[in-house]
Amino acid sequence: MIPDDRSALTAAGIRSSLKTHVLGRALHVHQEVESTNQVAMALAQAGAADGTTVVADAQTQGRGRLGRSWLSPPHSNIYLSVLLVRTLPRVILSWISLVTGVSVARALLALGVNARLKWPNDVLVYREGQERKIAGILVETVGDHPSDKPVVVVGIGLNTNLVESDFPEHLRRTATSIRAEIGRMVDREQLIASLLLDLEEMYTELHADQAGVVAEFIRLCDTVGKRVRIDLVGDHHVTGFATGLAEDGALRLQQADGHILEIRAGDVVHLR
Ligand code: BTN
Repeated sequence: MIPDDRSALTAAGIRSSLKTHVLGRALHVHQEVESTNQVAMALAQAGAADGTTVVADAQTQGRGRLGRSWLSPPHSNIYLSVLLVRTLPRVILSWISLVTGVSVARALLALGVNARLKWPNDVLVYREGQERKIAGILVETVGDHPSDKPVVVVGIGLNTNLVESDFPEHLRRTATSIRAEIGRMVDREQLIASLLLDLEEMYTELHADQAGVVAEFIRLCDTVGKRVRIDLVGDHHVTGFATGLAEDGALRLQQADGHILEIRAGDVVHLR
């Protein structure tokens, strides 16, 4: 049954649909936190296990990429952070952030939302010629975990049951939600459980068949093959043609003089 607008998220509700072996097996569900990434970081520093998952109904200081904030009102969306404690080669580690976008896009496609990816991992919907962001992903590295394995927190914010008028004025043309796209509410607990299962499978596949995962990313991503402008940190930008991805997932950008840059952080603007 789809809960009504104001029902709370519960660990029992998520567990009843959860089919994973590792992700979400240690599950912390909060009504409100500053940031689920921050809670997951603190758990990591205390030695939490691989797959530990933090979910909140609301965030008071949701963090976005490049130092931005993430809109996080209660009772409506998904705010989720997963801790990965794994021995992964550096090139694979950098793909975690990209393949997380693939899982989120696939979960949305299964619900009938025509989701696409913009490098590195913005999840977008195109409506009336306008790009609208439906989900964002923030991967942060944890400095000191008691194990000496590389540890990352993968944070996902997914606009789920907000209606258009719930967005602040300045986001109404550039953001959307599942409900705004398909005209009905979805069960957040079931969606979290199915997303965790797809993420678990993607992270395993990344080890076994990196080429297959890269091909799936390219299939869902609109950036490669386009002319783009990339807004870099500070007030700089570069423009060029996105020719493909480097081994570590960096975007290869061919500039007008033929020079190829490899971009590892920035905001992509698709040009016509
Ligand atoms: C972006 O700017 O595109 C990334 C947004 C990531 C937001 C999610 S919400 C759950 C997790 N906790 C946070 O504080 N941020 C991420």
